[in-house]
Amino acid sequence: MNENKKKIILSGMRPTGNLHLGHWTGALENWVALQNSYSNFHLVADYHALTTSLETGDLYRNTIDMVIDWLAGGIDPEASPIFRQSKVKEHTELYLIFTMLITKSRLERNPSIKEQVRDLEIEHITYGHLGYPVLQAADILLYRADLVPVGEDQLSHVEITREIARRFNATWGDVFPEPAPKLTTFARLPGLDGKDRKMSKSMNNTVLLSDDAGTVDQKLRKAPTDPLKVRRHDPGRPDVCLIFTYHEKFNPDEISEIRIGCESGALGCVDCKKRCSERISAFLAPHRERRRRYEEQPSLVEDILRDGEERARTAAVDTMTAVRDIMKLG
Ligand code: TRP
Repeated sequence: MNENKKKIILSGMRPTGNLHLGHWTGALENWVALQNSYSNFHLVADYHALTTSLETGDLYRNTIDMVIDWLAGGIDPEASPIFRQSKVKEHTELYLIFTMLITKSRLERNPSIKEQVRDLEIEHITYGHLGYPVLQAADILLYRADLVPVGEDQLSHVEITREIARRFNATWGDVFPEPAPKLTTFARLPGLDGKDRKMSKSMNNTVLLSDDAGTVDQKLRKAPTDPLKVRRHDPGRPDVCLIFTYHEKFNPDEISEIRIGCESGALGCVDCKKRCSERISAFLAPHRERRRRYEEQPSLVEDILRDGEERARTAAVDTMTAVRDIMKLG
């Protein structure tokens, strides 16, 4: 395929520090799978991290840790620039213009803001928090992306992005494509504390992509299984067990054997967990291998960001020139 004809993907995450298996199945795995067939931009949404709380910890450190996880996961920074939102100033420029293209009431109807206000018990919402999806629209449209890989929770933001693109194009002329969401397929991964809660840093129920084999083993050992399987030979119910979900994801070849073993009582939870943690550790082994280089030489990560930021900026300046021209800003 002609390089220039590849469709453009913009993917982004807030810098939350070390990533876990939930980030892998929910996002990163998809990014890696898509990287050869598309032209990708990978954004660290550091300004977005400030929208829900100003107590973000060390944003720079969290960025570096997260980017190392991206690289260890197999993102190729030569093929796809990795960059920080706050280092490409065109994001804030386009964001400002976009704030004029959407109403306050539309943003107040955004379901994810309502959820955040409820879950984080936010009493007074800031102007910037309300504008979260507008900044996200700028992230996406600045690179004139065709596709955005997201989970269900982000669909409303892609919809707002499309509305803003339409509004801009209808007012001044065609500059932006209407990007489509590309949904990640694997359902969310349960956390170590039980089947109904998803893996999340704030719940402290994660297996980190950077955990070593011993840590994975220890974490799984403490996880609950089917409460009705009390003794080793009691029959178990794989479908209520989070370890079985991990087997489904990381040990698909042995899945029917595990199910039969659990249901018949032949396989005890201790052994089942051991096999699971071995598979997870084997899956993480190449990550560990690639990670070593970046941990030994942290300046490599800075170089990758600097290079990615330059390349992102070139694309961003190009779009802003088109925007200014068509708006007759001069
Ligand atoms: N809102 C996204 C999240 O919380 C992060 C994000 C910011 C993003 N800008 C983006 C995702 C642009 C996709 C495209 O996960």
